[in-house]
Amino acid sequence: MRGNPEVIDYLNMLIGGELAARDQYLIHSRMYEDWGLSKIYERIDHEMQEEAAHADSIIRRVLFLEGKPNMNRDDIVTGEDVVSCLKADLALEYHVRQKLADGVKLCEEKGDYVSRDMLRSQMSDTEEDHTYWLEKQLRLIELMGLQNYIQSQM
Ligand SMILES: [Fe+2]
Ligand SMILES: [Fe+2]
Repeated sequence: MRGNPEVIDYLNMLIGGELAARDQYLIHSRMYEDWGLSKIYERIDHEMQEEAAHADSIIRRVLFLEGKPNMNRDDIVTGEDVVSCLKADLALEYHVRQKLADGVKLCEEKGDYVSRDMLRSQMSDTEEDHTYWLEKQLRLIELMGLQNYIQSQM
């Protein structure tokens, strides 16, 4: 089914953010594993798979709308320690959340309600799962101190 060209372009732009989130979680999870922090490794490895699933849904939707998926991913920021990794991931989630919100609005304006629902559902994952979890970790570090937090993630 031929889709609205503006919606297709916007969805293509969103793929880059999801691929960036996937790759940023890929490198950070492997760093955590290398540091012996298996709990946080498992969580972030799972996040990576969810970002791949987000990218997958958008890619399938672009193909369905007879567009050509753009596989260029946005730049990633690699942290150097636990706190900078968490902060870089949180900044990316905030950024993606805003882009999804703008996408929901555009899809609505163009009458593409199925794309809108897909993006809205990805917003729930972004806000209530990924972002919320990262905010909680940074708050826990402030409350219990970095050493205790690191110990809790071994
Ligand atoms: Fe995502
Ligand atoms: Fe996310």
